[in-house]
Amino acid sequence: MNKVSRTSVTLDNEVLNIKEISLRDHIPIIEDEVLDFLTFYLRHLDVKNILEIGTGYGFSAAIFRQSFPSATITTVERKEKNVLIAQKLLREMDVNVIHMDASDYIASRTEPIDLLFLDGAKSHYMELLDKASHLLSKGSIIISDNIYARGITFGDNVPKRHRTIRRNMNAFIEEIFSDKYESYIIPIGDGLAITRMK
Ligand SMILES: C[S@@+](CC[C@H](N)C(=O)[O-])C[C@H]1O[C@@H](n2cnc3c(N)ncnc32)[C@H](O)[C@@H]1O
Repeated sequence: MNKVSRTSVTLDNEVLNIKEISLRDHIPIIEDEVLDFLTFYLRHLDVKNILEIGTGYGFSAAIFRQSFPSATITTVERKEKNVLIAQKLLREMDVNVIHMDASDYIASRTEPIDLLFLDGAKSHYMELLDKASHLLSKGSIIISDNIYARGITFGDNVPKRHRTIRRNMNAFIEEIFSDKYESYIIPIGDGLAITRMK
């Protein structure tokens, strides 16, 4: 058996539509096995305030909405074109789509975060976690996608141009495995980290 998951998730038609449009326009979205795992894992959580970094066209935000019908969901995206499309695709789903750089948004936010989903630029995870620390508290969950950064994080002979991502991602991993947090890296997709603040 070489499979680590099976595609067992049933998506609402609206969510499926966002997935198809994202794939058509080559917007990177969470991989199917990550989707499977997340929908399984999220079922066990009780969260009220979700912040997603990196909206794309809104596929993962729609998954959060499907998993948590009454949570407040905010998703932040820096590309205007993506924001406009996501706002349209998510219009029936009560998701706040914010056009802003994640770092600026987090600095200006005051509402606490129960679940932080990091899916924006890989070299910024550490900085964003740091900036969000005043919004996180005991029990807050941080889910970080693309921890492997396509081999850059742990690989050998990484080209010079990827060294910043490698250094920053390793600093992030060191931080989430520090005493402040409890973390696991799940070897699915491009590596998914699940972290709980102690
Ligand atoms: C992998 S895509 C997000 C996919 C989406 N989460 C999904 O699964 O449907 C990453 C997105 O993050 C956005 N992004 C990257 N860095 C960002 C930042 N610092 N602030 C806001 N958005 C950012 C990119 O423009 C891109 O649309």
